Amino acid sequence: MTITIDRPEAPAGPPKLDRDALRLAQAETLATPRMDYSLLAKMMFKPVDLMYGKKGSFTKFAMLEIIARVPYQAWERMGYWAVHRYAGRSALAKRVFERIVEARADQDNEQWHLLIMQDLIQRHGMKQNWLLHKVAPWFISFFYYHVSWVLFLVRPEASYRLNAEFEDHAEHEYMTFVAENPDLEFMPDPGTYADEYGRYRSVADLMRQIGHDERMHKLDSLENVKDPHWAPTR
Ligand SMILES: [Fe+2]
Ligand SMILES: [Fe+2]
Repeated sequence: MTITIDRPEAPAGPPKLDRDALRLAQAETLATPRMDYSLLAKMMFKPVDLMYGKKGSFTKFAMLEIIARVPYQAWERMGYWAVHRYAGRSALAKRVFERIVEARADQDNEQWHLLIMQDLIQRHGMKQNWLLHKVAPWFISFFYYHVSWVLFLVRPEASYRLNAEFEDHAEHEYMTFVAENPDLEFMPDPGTYADEYGRYRSVADLMRQIGHDERMHKLDSLENVKDPHWAPTR
């Protein structure tokens, strides 16, 4: 006998947009001022600008994507701790688990961004050195990871807010990069991860889609700022 189980599917990730919607999304981002970044956020953006340049590039974005996954990993870990703590309260434990699933989906989305960037770097023959592209991301990720979980423990809304700032920064960086590099419109999307991420008319559209994903991540985090009450301390 087959038993049918009704369980929530893992979120599919941010929506994929068509060409016109991508252009519109870019115009919206560029017309929207950046968030007011906190000192902690600036402590990560500044060294990144100093080491990788103020202007966007595939190598700079790869670095940003390495650290973008970090808060989701921290929340996932804290979530498992909370599930254990709420073991006797099934409704709350279930809600926590739903957030874990959401955090994992966002991590996966960031992972595709990173794989796409690494692919573009290789195709363009760009060099990545050990210190700037291995050691530095490790240090910044280490710092960000611990800031994320400690903040989450003491003030979960501040941890979500910090991530929203990070995502807002990423959204603007991608959309500005496309605006500043019109040649990207004529560079075909190589489609290396087309089955998993979709295929776009150009690298410009691919970057716009990633920028829009970052906006969705930001909006999710801002939602969670308003409703962080599942946190382990509550
Ligand atoms: Fe990303
Ligand atoms: Fe993101």
